[in-house]
Amino acid sequence: MRVLAIESSCDETAVAIVEDGKLLSSVLSSQVNIHRKYGGVVPEIAARKHLENILFLLDEALDRASLKIDDIDIFAATQGPGLVGSLLVGLSLAKGLSISLNKPFVEVNHLIGHIYANFLSFPDLEYPFLVLLVSGGHTEILLAEDWNNFKRIGKTRDDAAGEAFDKVARLLGLGYPGGPEVEQAARNGNPIYRFPRALNEKGNFDFSFSGLKTSVLYFLKNNPEARIEDVAAAFQEAVIDSLLTKTFAAAKTYGINKIVFAGGVAANTRLRERANGIAKEKDINIYFPPIEFCTDNAAMIAMAAYEKAKRGIFSPIDTNAIPYLSIVSL
Ligand code: KG4
Ligand code: ZN
Repeated sequence: MRVLAIESSCDETAVAIVEDGKLLSSVLSSQVNIHRKYGGVVPEIAARKHLENILFLLDEALDRASLKIDDIDIFAATQGPGLVGSLLVGLSLAKGLSISLNKPFVEVNHLIGHIYANFLSFPDLEYPFLVLLVSGGHTEILLAEDWNNFKRIGKTRDDAAGEAFDKVARLLGLGYPGGPEVEQAARNGNPIYRFPRALNEKGNFDFSFSGLKTSVLYFLKNNPEARIEDVAAAFQEAVIDSLLTKTFAAAKTYGINKIVFAGGVAANTRLRERANGIAKEKDINIYFPPIEFCTDNAAMIAMAAYEKAKRGIFSPIDTNAIPYLSIVSL
């Protein structure tokens, strides 16, 4: 069974093909250089750029897999969450191909896609497991009981972890997207300052990062001589402390010994290092997607679509984009 999936929820246009759960090709065109000068994604521009790039990427994904469009059995696309104009480009193309070639169509929840990126490295990963989903728009601890059953245990009450990286990068005069920039700066710094870890009472699995961001803002105002690299390192440690303390505590509370990381922030090498250290100490198995499949891509969407398709779960052709789609309303 060959699944071709399209991802266009934000500022990456991507197409990938999997055959029986094995990745054949994955191509991506990032708009990051276009949005960088605005300090964030401009929705109108993003939708237009998806439209310009998508057909080229479709051909490229087929070429790299040495396939023709008729060799595809199922077409899939991200339904949400994301920017509505962007989502519509990928969704319309996948539905159009499905109608014209008379092949089934599968809708994919982008957040479930992020989790499924792990199956690219760990095809035999078994449920149940705990998930730390950390992206630009979401920060959640989930209990994955089965392939389509995700229970939310905790979530951010304000900013997502990736959003905090992006906002603090701006305060530090670093570029967009902020995560990789802060990580790079932190590598040349030392966490000699201490920023607050919010909501750190026992048993509280929610996150809050807006106070941390404000704390960095005031710190910079009051300490203009501080090295950006040291501030970046101290900020990064505070985010990672919150993420890992709560996730490992949740694993203990729920009696789960597997933690799966997902989303753009899971690309952070310091987070990976720290998680590995704690996992060894606590005898917990941890899983990370390959670094290039942590941030948005279509391989993860194709993997999630394959899980549905192999169970014969297809979507109606009038499926619409859902910008605020949640992971738990399945
Ligand atoms: O999952 P993703 O590509 O898009 C969403 O679905 O939101 O996540 C993007 C987020 C951005 O906020 C970006 O700054 C963050 O992930 N990010 C990182 C790193 N790489 C990307 N954060 C920390 N360290 C990184 N290396
Ligand atoms: Zn994403």
